[in-house]
This record gives sequence, C-alpha cells and structure tokens, in this order.
Amino acid sequence: MQYPIFPKECSSMLCKYLTPEVFDRLKDLKTANGFTLEQAINSGVQNIDSGIGVYAGDEESYELFAPLFDTIIEAYHGFGKEDKHQSNLNPNDLNAPNPDPEGNYIVSTRIRVGRNVDNMPLGTAISKEQRDQVESSVVEGLSRLKGELSGRYYPLLGMDKEAQDALIKDHFLFKEGDRFLDTAGLNRDWPAGRGIYHNNDKTFLVWVNEEDQLRIISMQKGGDIKEVFTRLVNAIKRIETRVPFSYNDHLGYITSCPTNLGTAMRASVHIAVPKLAKDMESFKAITDKYHLQIRGIHGEHSESEGGIYDISNRRRLGITEVEAVQDMADGVTALIAAEKALV
Ligand code: ADP
Ligand code: ARG
Repeated sequence: MQYPIFPKECSSMLCKYLTPEVFDRLKDLKTANGFTLEQAINSGVQNIDSGIGVYAGDEESYELFAPLFDTIIEAYHGFGKEDKHQSNLNPNDLNAPNPDPEGNYIVSTRIRVGRNVDNMPLGTAISKEQRDQVESSVVEGLSRLKGELSGRYYPLLGMDKEAQDALIKDHFLFKEGDRFLDTAGLNRDWPAGRGIYHNNDKTFLVWVNEEDQLRIISMQKGGDIKEVFTRLVNAIKRIETRVPFSYNDHLGYITSCPTNLGTAMRASVHIAVPKLAKDMESFKAITDKYHLQIRGIHGEHSESEGGIYDISNRRRLGITEVEAVQDMADGVTALIAAEKALV
C-alpha cells in the first residue's frame, strides 16, 4: 500500500496525524483478526470530508496502531496514553433537574451508549457468521428483560420499507447506506444480522450490529434527563448480566470509532433555540464552553430544521457517564437562559 493522497482541503484527523513516518511504521501490521492499517483508514481516505477518518477492527487495533490512534484520541478527548478511564453510572450523582419543565424548548431527550461483545472482532472486521452469532446472543439476552424494558426484536431482514422508513423518520432507527460506515466495512452483508429491539412505548431501544454491535438507547419526549439516564443505566446493568462487553481500564468501553471510546455515551436533547441560532457565534461560544456538539435534526451529518438542533456531550473518554450527562444538562440550561434573554 502507498501513502494515500490527501487533497489540500482535507482537514480530518487522519490526514493531520497519518504522517509518512507513522504510515511507514504501521503499513505492514495486522491484528490477530487480520485487520490492517489500510482497512483502518479507508473511510477517511475515501471520504475526504471526514472529521476523524479512522475505525478500529478490534481491541488490539488500538494498541497495534497506537501511533495513529493515540494522537487522534488525545486530540478528540484530551486523553493521554497513561490516563485511566473511570466509570460512574450512579444516577444519584447526577444533578440534572429538568431544564425546561414547561416544555417550551426541549422536544425530547435521548441517551445512548455503544457496546461491543468481548472477544469478538468489531463490526469492521467481523465475519457474517460471527455477526449472526452476535445478533442471536444479544436477542436472547434482550428477550429476558422485564417490566418497562420488555419488548420485541425487529430484524431488518424482511422488514418492509415503509416500516423501516417510518422508524428512521421518527428518530428511532439508524439510517441505511451511510458512506462513512460503508467504506469502513461496517455495512457488509447488509441487512443480515441487523435489527432493532424496542419496548412498546419506544422509550427503550437497542440497535443491533450497526456501527457498534449494540447501541443501547433510552429516550422520551421532554427534558427529564435523570429519568432517561436512570432507565438507561437499569437496562445496561440487566443486559451485561447476559452479554459480556468489551472493556479495558485505559480506554473504557471499546468501540469501532475512537470518538466513542470510554463511556461510549452520547446524551442529547432536541432543542428549539431559533433566536440563538441566528447568531451562530454566540451559540457556538456556549456549546464550546460546555464541551457540546451541535448536530442536525436527523442525526450526524444532517441539517437543522425549524431552529431545532441536536445538542450532545462531545467528550466520552476520561470522564464518567455522570460527567458526560452533566456536561449536556449544564450546557442545555445555559442555552435556554441565552434563548430566553433574546427578544
Ligand atoms: P448516535 O446517536 O448513535 O450518535 P445519530 O446522531 O445518527 O447517532 O442519531 C441517531 C438518531 O437518533 C437520529 O434519528 C437522531 O435524530 C435521533 N436522536 C438523537 N438525539 C435525539 C433526541 N434528543 N431526541 C430524539 N431523537 C434523537
Ligand atoms: N467517520 C466519520 C468522520 O470521521 C464519523 C466520526 C464520528 N462519528 C461516528 N459516528 N463515529 O467524520
């Protein structure tokens, strides 16, 4: 493999940190699952508008390709090679009263975590048989959930297009054909092995075999962040009694994309701040202060509609789950105060 050609306008972390020296050190290495540097960087090489541009094939990728991954992890999370990750899933440590009890700004709240099954390659490097095995063991574990968490699994294979589109439009299901995931090898054998589990109210959902093997999701209308977090924590604890998750003391929960390592948690609200959004500089000053990311209304790489934005924690590694949610709760409180102050 030759050193890739990155056009001038490329500003991804991949083109910044994959120097010719780093490339030469890593180009012939392979993990025990057979995952190579070429595979790790293909998404960023093909999609020059990537923000990051790399994916791991397995837990070992983070060690073997550390000269590349470590610099990206440090730049994204501010987390160094010697740092240790800490988890805290105790809802009692969260100070997050509803920032919008009258329901004027927050449309809905959603918190998700990514999880992958221990001792399996990640979705980028998994075989069809292994992926199917992940699906059946996860579905078996989910079938044991009780009470509010009990629900049904809907495989993508055989789902009619209308039902699939409705679930996507209503923000419950992942979209199809994402070009970043495609070029990372994450969409191989689509739609086999993929699906969604949800309870009747669609307040608890699990995506199976998308970017990560599990995306465990708690969501509901309004701004009761603590209720959403508490439901999620209960679900995580139940599921991990049946499905062993990939975790280590340095990187926390192992995920395909280095941005998701650690807590693997994204806590978001859909929030209407039309006045503030007219002044993007002030809007961004607040989101930067609280380490928040702004996304559009249909998730990553989508646009806002009607002044409604998806606001979530940006950092996931080197902070606890409680701190990740706290970033979002404090930032959203500040955004609402700023919106109220505008006439
Ligand atoms: P991820 O959450 O896995 O990082 P996306 O940004 O693509 O992935 O979002 C997935 C879906 O979840 C999208 O349909 C998005 O609109 C929806 N979503 C995210 N946050 C919220 C929220 N607070 N309320 C309702 N839907 C949400
Ligand atoms: N690979 C894409 C990029 O570099 C997405 C990165 C972060 N998002 C994610 N879903 N992992 O822009």
